[in-house]
Amino acid sequence: MTRVVITGASGLLGRALVKDFKENGFTVFGLAKSRVSPGLLALDLLDSDALRSKVRELRPDVIIHSAAYRQPDQVEGDAEGARRMNVHVPQVLAELAAELKAQLLYISTDYVFDGVSPPHMADDQPNPLNLYGQTKYEGEQATLKHCPGSLVLRVPILYGPVEYLAESAVTVLFGALLNPPAGGYTVSDLEVRYPAHVRDVAAMCRQLIEKQRQDRDGVFGIFQWSGQEPVTKYTLVQQMAALFGLPLDHVSACRTPPTSGTRRPMDSRLDTSGLRRLGIGQHVPLAQGLHESLLPWAEQQAGDASAGSC
Ligand SMILES: NC(=O)c1ccc[n+]([C@@H]2O[C@H](COP(=O)([O-])OP(=O)(O)OC[C@H]3O[C@@H](n4cnc5c(N)ncnc54)[C@H](OP(=O)(O)O)[C@@H]3O)[C@@H](O)[C@H]2O)c1
Repeated sequence: MTRVVITGASGLLGRALVKDFKENGFTVFGLAKSRVSPGLLALDLLDSDALRSKVRELRPDVIIHSAAYRQPDQVEGDAEGARRMNVHVPQVLAELAAELKAQLLYISTDYVFDGVSPPHMADDQPNPLNLYGQTKYEGEQATLKHCPGSLVLRVPILYGPVEYLAESAVTVLFGALLNPPAGGYTVSDLEVRYPAHVRDVAAMCRQLIEKQRQDRDGVFGIFQWSGQEPVTKYTLVQQMAALFGLPLDHVSACRTPPTSGTRRPMDSRLDTSGLRRLGIGQHVPLAQGLHESLLPWAEQQAGDASAGSC
């Protein structure tokens, strides 16, 4: 059976990757740092010696590198740590993949682009606006340089089943809708995003690996995926309110560009033609994906409310 090492296996995308690869007959070794649930292996990727020795011991045919420091605001506050995690770790994994002749897929982001002229093609010159995007771009370059023939998949904002609502930049909006602060609040109606469900992304990662196994010389380099529905934070909140019959009158839309804080692309739409040419493309409709992902939280809130009533 094909042996696959998945980094970031405890994360939002990593959990979906582990599930999909297992369900499709791969032998999966999921690596995690702090959330080491049963079946995962504990490893701090920043310990390069331990990483090298663990990966050599596991002898993977495939490495999926999903782990990253991925919150732009946190990255700005820890530039050195972010470079180690988002640039140095991909380099070590790429060297290992080359040594072991393993297939390597590095997960990257739409934030490598500035969002000025969407859709962004896979071969457009990246121009990241923040350090997160910059380090992920440098991680791409390290991957492609140290493991020629490897794969990069750029993905947009992700959502899916979350362990806590703030785990995804999509689902976090539902928390404020369920428990609105007194006096209401404002959300941006400016930056356009194309959310993708982690189940779809995980399935496409596996399909890309399978395509490459059939044609190692023909399938390599940078691919991109995007959700189909353009949203802003405000239209997402509108959609969530409509799906669960929640009031929206305390939420206001903000259309003023931010003048401070971490810069983000305005419209980071990714062109997906590379994957589609390979016959790869999977998309759960956003309304359905949101309903599935948020329902447990809506039910929990309803349960808490009824437990509190007399
Ligand atoms: N989430 C998004 O909206 C989004 C959008 C575009 C691209 N991406 C990219 O997609 C990939 C997956 O993102 P995600 O949202 O699934 O991330 P996530 O939920 O934040 O998970 C991060 C993962 O990295 C692991 N990790 C962090 N530091 C580590 C270390 N020193 N050693 C070992 N493991 C470490 C974490 O392990 P523990 O939790 O066990 O500590 C966790 O499994 C990333 O490459 C990200 O850049 C994400």
